[in-house]
Amino acid sequence: MRGLFGSRFRSRSKAVASLTELAIAFDCDKHIDHDYIPIYERLLEPRRFENLKILEIGIGGYQSSKAGGNSLRMWASYAPEATIYGIDLHEKDIEIPANVRLVQLNQTDRLGLRHLAETHGPFDLVIDDGSHIPQDSEAAFITLFPYLSDNGSYVIEDIQTSFNSDFQGGLESDRFSILSLVERIVKLQHTIEWKPPRKAKHQNAIYSEWIDAVEIHYNLVVIRKKRSFRVSNLDRHEGVPHLIKRTLDLERDLGTKYPAYWTRLYRYYRSLECFEQADSCLQRGLCHFPSDPELRRLLTELRGQT
Ligand SMILES: C[S@@+](CC[C@H](N)C(=O)[O-])C[C@H]1O[C@@H](n2cnc3c(N)ncnc32)[C@H](O)[C@@H]1O
Repeated sequence: MRGLFGSRFRSRSKAVASLTELAIAFDCDKHIDHDYIPIYERLLEPRRFENLKILEIGIGGYQSSKAGGNSLRMWASYAPEATIYGIDLHEKDIEIPANVRLVQLNQTDRLGLRHLAETHGPFDLVIDDGSHIPQDSEAAFITLFPYLSDNGSYVIEDIQTSFNSDFQGGLESDRFSILSLVERIVKLQHTIEWKPPRKAKHQNAIYSEWIDAVEIHYNLVVIRKKRSFRVSNLDRHEGVPHLIKRTLDLERDLGTKYPAYWTRLYRYYRSLECFEQADSCLQRGLCHFPSDPELRRLLTELRGQT
């Protein structure tokens, strides 16, 4: 394992430290002051030893070039095969493990972020623990979300700042807070439900077709990215054959295939009791994704029942 830290955490063959243990060892405030560790553990544990790319905005230590890096050291130790990118407004001259890269960058610098993401992305996890100014978080999210990998997660920490006037928050406030940003993200996710003009539909596709879920936890939000094939719920009254047509159009328009596309089509055929089409749909899906567990499960279930 690459890393500069205590022998206790060096080898996978020895006892593997939990994220909580590492947060304590590296004095990371994600554990000390917040309850974020179980959330991160849930996101990362299944992929802990993969070759992940993690980007964290906010190294810590603010103006002090010699301070900060606690969370970066924790990530580096927890996910030893990962490459961790830490960005901060201020220059940093700190000791870091070999799998950590430091970049001096303002999270509002969209060109700089894009360049970083083009060069080093896509990222499996992006964490915004920077300024907590809503416009800054929005700039970073809009720029980096396209560079999040499929099944990746984008985390915005400290959303309690939405209630703090230092961060434009407050219950009475009609100003743009982090919670307003979260609401905006949910609206983007639901684009097709508000029947937008074609241009907006196209522009928002990166969100409406890729935001799987927006999870609001205490003080923290997780935006999960996963390819989704969505047909507006408002189209339902037009009947299942119409929904099938819309789904087939999606395949033509998008030109790419994901397991969710086939499961959606399957559901429609199944509800019409078109068992042959349902079966062929799952088979076609399995041609693209031979080991997809959901497609396999549905095919076994369908054949067991028909
Ligand atoms: C709360 S600290 C980060 C702590 C660190 N993530 C940890 O858990 O150990 C916030 C950091 O964000 C940096 N920061 C503030 N505004 C920023 C901006 N606009 N762009 C990038 N970094 C910023 C600050 O300099 C500070 O070091």
